[in-house]
Amino acid sequence: MKPFYRGKVRDLYEAGPDSMVLVATDRLSAFDVVFPDPVPGKGKVLTRVSSNWFGAIRSSGLEQKLDFTDHIIETNVDQFPKDLRLEEWKDRAVLAKKTKRIDFECVVRGYLAGSAFKEYKETGTVCGESLPAGLLQADKLPSPIFTPATKAETGHDENISFSTMKSSIGNLADKLRDISIGIFEFASERMARAGILLCDTKFEFGLLGDRIVLIDEVLTPDSSRYWDIESYKPGSSPAGFDKQFVRDYVESIGWNKQPPAPSLPGEVIQKTTELYLEIERRIASVLK
Ligand SMILES: Nc1ncnc2c1ncn2[C@@H]1O[C@H](COP(=O)(O)OP(=O)(O)O)[C@@H](O)[C@H]1O
Ligand SMILES: [Mg+2]
Repeated sequence: MKPFYRGKVRDLYEAGPDSMVLVATDRLSAFDVVFPDPVPGKGKVLTRVSSNWFGAIRSSGLEQKLDFTDHIIETNVDQFPKDLRLEEWKDRAVLAKKTKRIDFECVVRGYLAGSAFKEYKETGTVCGESLPAGLLQADKLPSPIFTPATKAETGHDENISFSTMKSSIGNLADKLRDISIGIFEFASERMARAGILLCDTKFEFGLLGDRIVLIDEVLTPDSSRYWDIESYKPGSSPAGFDKQFVRDYVESIGWNKQPPAPSLPGEVIQKTTELYLEIERRIASVLK
């Protein structure tokens, strides 16, 4: 079968008129560039983690409370329509509703890291909003903040202010913010039980008619920064279970973040695999 779309990480296949199969490959991307070497098993971790969270969010009652739904039709490949039960898709694929994607990344941050810390250092703001003075890298924010970004077809996603988002999609922006923060708080509280801080995460949404649908992947180590509470110390970059390890490596060798991405040493790939498996285990331990 041929995908009708290839994202950086996922390949999308037609299923029916209103449905599609999302298959997570082992491709790794960082700084919006795909690396030449795959991380073996990464796509399976992403799919299992995301499916687990979709299930937990559904059972939590948040969808009723905040008035949204999710795109999942089926996460078990053995239950897919007969012609889509491919052996190589096991643990990698979900059957989902096709939606009209809302072209914003809905980012929620509980701590100061990444592009938000860079902006804060320069201007004292994040996505244009002022934050208290004197915060350190990785400091906890007074409360979680919604910092949207554009979903760029090509190139880098760009942080924007909430009012820019609102001038584009109106009151829908408020709803997406409330839903995103609601899910973030639910997930943070769960992860705290596993000794993990949820630093930040990114959600995507689509529309089915006027119904808001949570789509793509949720709360995976690709879309989220998870930190180990054991080694957490404001003022330094905490040990994460995510691509931070790869980001730190490529910054250490001075890669300019323009394609092509450099090849990764075996140890970096091995370490990344271990981190993904470890965070999967921790997440599973609090979502039973
Ligand atoms: N239910 C859905 N409806 C429409 N688009 C979706 C849905 N779920 C995911 N997508 C889109 O499918 C693509 C998934 O591929 P991915 O590799 O994550 O892409 P990207 O390079 O944009 O991160 C993304 O463009 C995402 O926005
Ligand atoms: Mg993606």
